[in-house]
Amino acid sequence: MPEDNDPKQIVEAARQAFERDFERFDFLAKPVAISKPLGFSELDAEQRALAELRTRHLGKKSSIAAAKKLIGRVPADERAAFGQLVQQAEASITQQLEQAEGSLNALIEAARTERDSIDVSIPGRRPLPGHLHPITLMRQRIEDIFVSLGYAVEDDREIETDFYNFDALNIPEGHPARDPQDTFYTTQGFALRSQTSTVQIHAMQRRGAPVRMIAPGRVFRRDTPDPTHNPMFYQVEGLCVDRGITMAHLKGTLAEFVHRLFGPDTRTRFRPSYFPFTEPSAEVDYSCFNCGGPGCRICKWSGWIELGGSGMVHPNVLRAANIDPEEFTGFAFGLGIDRTCARIYELDDIRLLFENDVRFLEQFR
Ligand code: FA5
Repeated sequence: MPEDNDPKQIVEAARQAFERDFERFDFLAKPVAISKPLGFSELDAEQRALAELRTRHLGKKSSIAAAKKLIGRVPADERAAFGQLVQQAEASITQQLEQAEGSLNALIEAARTERDSIDVSIPGRRPLPGHLHPITLMRQRIEDIFVSLGYAVEDDREIETDFYNFDALNIPEGHPARDPQDTFYTTQGFALRSQTSTVQIHAMQRRGAPVRMIAPGRVFRRDTPDPTHNPMFYQVEGLCVDRGITMAHLKGTLAEFVHRLFGPDTRTRFRPSYFPFTEPSAEVDYSCFNCGGPGCRICKWSGWIELGGSGMVHPNVLRAANIDPEEFTGFAFGLGIDRTCARIYELDDIRLLFENDVRFLEQFR
């Protein structure tokens, strides 16, 4: 407040102080001329600054309020003129503030409309339809064949007790397959199944005999990844137990399977082998679906491709599942889905199947 306490000067000083403070809001007089559109946070800050300005120049503690209080105290003959002066100053400040506030609100509204608007002319995002993984396609082809031969499809657990993973499969204590170097164990001592043969036991316990089932699923081995090995891969187990089942049934079934999968000219070959849970045991090969025998890149020039292991269910395995081996016999087989899939689709490396490279997977659409 000026020293000389002249009421008119108080009003004039209040007006000038407002003009000085209000200068920074000049841009609101012509909002269209703003070079760079203000963002929400900037507009918000301006709105707060403007509200502060209003309080400072028109509020209870403002110079204008002080001047109003003086009206009653100026000499009577000057009172009306002074009152008018105060009123005019207040009206002018109010009018300028209201104009600025109006412009600011309009800017905020425009920014909001801009933010919420949708450009209907932008092309939509085309949804990418998914498709089945090559392993799944392969598994379904295998399932279709065995279901049409009268087999049920079983699904079972991937984490097993030693009983199902080893004991019931006639794999004795101390067998190398039990070694933690070959099998993954959980911290509680459960094994990640290393073959789908575990499902043979579950299926026989659940269904009793006779039983005919296949069990596709994931298995785990401590194998170092290379073009034909992965530590996680898929197998499909097959089991047929009934009265009078012989090796001839096994050979006939797998021969029929490869005919349906690779064509009627495909031949099978059984090589003697060893598995603790089958006796006798055999590795099964089929004649190359590409060259039919002479040898080519796909069969690695041998004319034959390995299908998997097989054999007649060991009597100890039947007993472990409470089936009398004097009354029932059976055959079983276990095929690797990944390697079969790789052969059919001519993949050089089964690791491609789990790299999740969309450029690779899209080829199976
Ligand atoms: C077995 O696992 C036996 N359970 C098969 C069996 C079942 C025999 C029933 C008798 C009766 P083997 O370890 O050979 O057998 O594996 C079978 C198939 O799994 C192999 O032919 C191969 O195709 C696949 N396989 C094995 N190890 C790997 C691996 N690390 N990566 C990908 N495929 C594999």
